[in-house]
Amino acid sequence: MSSGENREPTEAELAEYSRDELVRLGGQLDGVEVVHNPDPWPVPGTRAEKRAERRTALWFTLSALAGLAFLGVFIWWPWQYRAPGQSGYFLYTLYTPLVGATLGCAVLFLAVGALYYVKKFLPHEVSVQERHDGPDTPAAQQTLLAQLADAGARSTIGRRSMIKRAAGAAAAVFGAGLVVLPVGGLVRNPWKDPNSEDSLWRTGWHSPNGETVYLRRNTGNPHEIVKIRPEDLDVGGFETVFPFRESERNNPEALSAAFTRSDNPVMLIRVRPGQEVVKRAGQEDFNYGDFYAYSKICTHLGCPTSLYEQQTGRLLCPCHQSQFDVFHYAKPVFGPATRSLPQLPITVDADGYFVARGDFIEPVGPAFWERKS
Ligand code: FES
Repeated sequence: MSSGENREPTEAELAEYSRDELVRLGGQLDGVEVVHNPDPWPVPGTRAEKRAERRTALWFTLSALAGLAFLGVFIWWPWQYRAPGQSGYFLYTLYTPLVGATLGCAVLFLAVGALYYVKKFLPHEVSVQERHDGPDTPAAQQTLLAQLADAGARSTIGRRSMIKRAAGAAAAVFGAGLVVLPVGGLVRNPWKDPNSEDSLWRTGWHSPNGETVYLRRNTGNPHEIVKIRPEDLDVGGFETVFPFRESERNNPEALSAAFTRSDNPVMLIRVRPGQEVVKRAGQEDFNYGDFYAYSKICTHLGCPTSLYEQQTGRLLCPCHQSQFDVFHYAKPVFGPATRSLPQLPITVDADGYFVARGDFIEPVGPAFWERKS
């Protein structure tokens, strides 16, 4: 191709062109004038070039290491809630900061590596171009592809295997982190040992040795034990209660754990005398007189359903506005929840304190993939 040629080449001529010629032709067709196009490393293999290459690879390697640290923290760090004073509290408090710091570093180092590579290895070309309208001709399309390929070749990424490996590792680890982040929280096998005290079929109200489980008031002090009697609750009132066993009276860890276990909170509700309540089939004797105990954990996504309106008997979950009808075995009547709140069977012992007659007879909380509503 001769320079200054105004005629567009035919397809047969284009097929004969080298990539450099196509690049030049593309510039001419687009009215582009390259003003300044220095090679960043005119003498290949200098110490400065090697240093720049090592630095770029270092940033990508740091990103990969931070990504691996994020995966490790997210999967293995002790994340279960610990109250102040409980063993493991300090490690628990580090969980969220470490997840944020490691993921943030992985993203930051990846970005710094990419910026450093662009700054050090891509040609810093300065070009001037006239604007034009209308669709591109075949020649313009082919020359554009040639220009892109040329830009890739001139970036010298093809021969920089250290940077390619480090960047590939960083991108792979970062990608794995993006998958683990949303999926990791969903991985729990509900069928793994259903008899375990931590399974979805057991709550803190379960009593494997038959010991009496009392309904306990939350006074804000995990070590203060206040058991509840029917006269403690006003007509139409309600209170959140937690399980308590006499064997745990002098065990501060167990007393705190009763408040922190997520499936333990129960709403003890006293309906007005004479209020007609529809009971669920098979659970006709779960209440004690006008007292009904329902799990406080919303069956939609597990928020606490703590807003009770005694006139209508509606329990409201503030998260997505599900409403449950306490006068109708706490079945959902509004919002996204589809299951009734599980009911705890209760009675009163010889001393007049509320006790649980057993654990819930169904899993507490949100539905899961194998659960039938
Ligand atoms: S968690 Fe209760 S409505 Fe969504």
